[in-house]
Amino acid sequence: MRVSTDEAADLLARGELVALPTETVYGLAARAFDDAAVVKIFERKGRPRFDPLIVHASSTEAAKTVSAALLPPDLTAFWPGPLTLVVPKRPAVSDLVTAGEPTVAVRVPNHPLALQVMARLGEPVAAPSANRFGRLSPTTPAAVEAQLGKDLPVVDGGPCSVGVESTIVSLAQEPPLVLRPGGVPVEELRRTLPALVVAGPDTPARLSPGRLPQHYAPRTRLRFDDGTAPPEPYGVLALSAVPAHLSPAHAEVLSPSGDLAEAARHLFEALRRLDASGVGSIVVERVPEIGLGRAIMDRLRRAAVRPES
Ligand code: TXA
Ligand code: MG
Repeated sequence: MRVSTDEAADLLARGELVALPTETVYGLAARAFDDAAVVKIFERKGRPRFDPLIVHASSTEAAKTVSAALLPPDLTAFWPGPLTLVVPKRPAVSDLVTAGEPTVAVRVPNHPLALQVMARLGEPVAAPSANRFGRLSPTTPAAVEAQLGKDLPVVDGGPCSVGVESTIVSLAQEPPLVLRPGGVPVEELRRTLPALVVAGPDTPARLSPGRLPQHYAPRTRLRFDDGTAPPEPYGVLALSAVPAHLSPAHAEVLSPSGDLAEAARHLFEALRRLDASGVGSIVVERVPEIGLGRAIMDRLRRAAVRPES
């Protein structure tokens, strides 16, 4: 059900869920300081309670209501924008939001409608991506409704301009750690945080709750191109052109000019169409791991992990 920003703020104030557009992906929002409302997020998504939520604030000032630490100005300069900071939490932030962690993840999203809703509400909202747990993140209102149901109130902000989730940087230990590559390229962050480390398979699990190997997954089996074609009818997800050795039943080209920001913008919708096309499997072309390519490859690697493996 599509609602206006005023209706959305009123629903949130009453403890209801609303899907909000952000520049990255749509979020499933509830009042951050209302546990009865936040519980509904976990239920609607089928999300385990051990996976903490990102708190969204309308301004850096508003973000200070959840952070017990100083928010470094050279990082809040990225706000509003696709950067999430993990910092020590204030006591008012409940264990439900942070999954019992002493830290909270917070960001100011860069979407006029989300900012309008939060400004009218007058307090932050907790909002994970508005998809069923482990599945593709939605970048359009229709994609939200397909996963979470047409009865969910959605603010229609059109297609998301970034298309992959925010970059998550933990400031809760030294050196700062990228928990998830995303909309702000790591190269850009390194200009202000030269010591920044990117989490890998060796990162202790306790530093990064919710970094699950399998995530962002279409229903169709997905693997990277190894130079061979599958025996069954298959789909291809290519960066700029379908590789010559493949003849797919359904092809998705993310950016004809090979632009990684354009590719990120189209990633989740392309995967959704491939899933809907009925192909037996999806062959994916690797993209260069620079700029937004790092976030794209992170999502594709997690999409390629089978639940049973
Ligand atoms: O772009 C985005 O970040 C989108 C939009 C809606 O803002 N949100 C999003 O939320 O991607 P979600 O829940 O799908 O992913 C948030 C991830 C969690 O899985 C968890 O790994 C991490 O953020 N996170 C949240 N709180 C944390 C904390 N206190 N410490 C470490 N990681 C945390
Ligand atoms: Mg998510």
